[in-house]
Amino acid sequence: MNILGIETSCDETGVAIMGKNRSIVTQALHSQIEMHRLHGGIVPELASRDHVKKLLPLVQHVLDAGNLALADIDAIAFTAGPGLIGALLVGATFARSLAYSQGIPVIPIHHMEAHLLVARLEYPQLQFPFCSLLVSGGHTLLIRAKGVGDYEILGQTVDDAAGEAFDKTARLMGLPYPGGPEIAKKAVGGDASAFHLPRPMTNKPGLDFSFSGLKTAVRLAWEGAEHTEQTRADLSAATQDAIVDTIVIKVERALKATQLTQLVVAGGVASNRQLRQQLAKLGDRMSVEVLFPSPEYCTDNGAMVAYAGFEHLSAKSAAVNHPMDVRPRWPLTQLYTT
Ligand code: KG4
Ligand code: ZN
Repeated sequence: MNILGIETSCDETGVAIMGKNRSIVTQALHSQIEMHRLHGGIVPELASRDHVKKLLPLVQHVLDAGNLALADIDAIAFTAGPGLIGALLVGATFARSLAYSQGIPVIPIHHMEAHLLVARLEYPQLQFPFCSLLVSGGHTLLIRAKGVGDYEILGQTVDDAAGEAFDKTARLMGLPYPGGPEIAKKAVGGDASAFHLPRPMTNKPGLDFSFSGLKTAVRLAWEGAEHTEQTRADLSAATQDAIVDTIVIKVERALKATQLTQLVVAGGVASNRQLRQQLAKLGDRMSVEVLFPSPEYCTDNGAMVAYAGFEHLSAKSAAVNHPMDVRPRWPLTQLYTT
């Protein structure tokens, strides 16, 4: 069984083919980061147009690289949401048309579910129920994953996402987009104790996050300081510490409350080294197995969509051939209800 996975929810065109024994046969990724960087952030219309340009050549490329013909594809999975509506429509229209022309099943996939499930591709020992921390540019979620398509949200951000907090801090200090990797790089030469930043919502009970207060504190700190490279490094280190500490405190609470023994960390921010180290330490302390998908599967990619498609096909879930429209906003707890 060969499953073609298509990801176009934001600024990455990702295509992959999953073959026998859950192996990723080939994958290709085109990042639009350079294009959006000129504008300091993602321009949705430009994103859609670029997906239109890149999708067909990338699909042809993965077929050729895998020595496969279109007729060898048995199902197509695509990201149906959440994300930018125009970008999602490009992938959805392409995937549905191609599947229709081949008479094969099509599977609309929730982007965050794909981030969450792909850990099972690399770690077959990962069993439901498990705890998942999803931290990306658009989401900060703590989840109890009970089965394929069955998720309970334990906590989420009430305002900005963790990745957004990194991106906005970087922008404030004149660092390029996306800000997370830039802040992480600058932080290496910085002294985090030079600034005192809050760990929002950690002194109240609960598992929700808030990063907008931190953003304000960072802005005030920046405005009150001399704008030197050392200040950039120090504020980067302090911001990274504040975001990482806040996340780790909430994860510890979630693990205590749920007594789950496996934790998956996924999404773009999961590539942050400090976050990985701190969560690994927490895992050791709590006897929890902490699993990180490899960096190529943490950021957006087609393989995670192909794999999520495989899970839904195997589970014979309602996702298979579901006629839904794309959903720019799509709660993970309401997957295939309508
Ligand atoms: O999952 P992703 O690739 O796209 C979304 O679905 O949002 O996540 C992108 C986010 C951006 O906010 C980016 O700044 C952040 O992940 N990110 C990082 C790192 N690498 C990417 N944040 C902190 N440290 C990193 N090393
Ligand atoms: Zn993502």
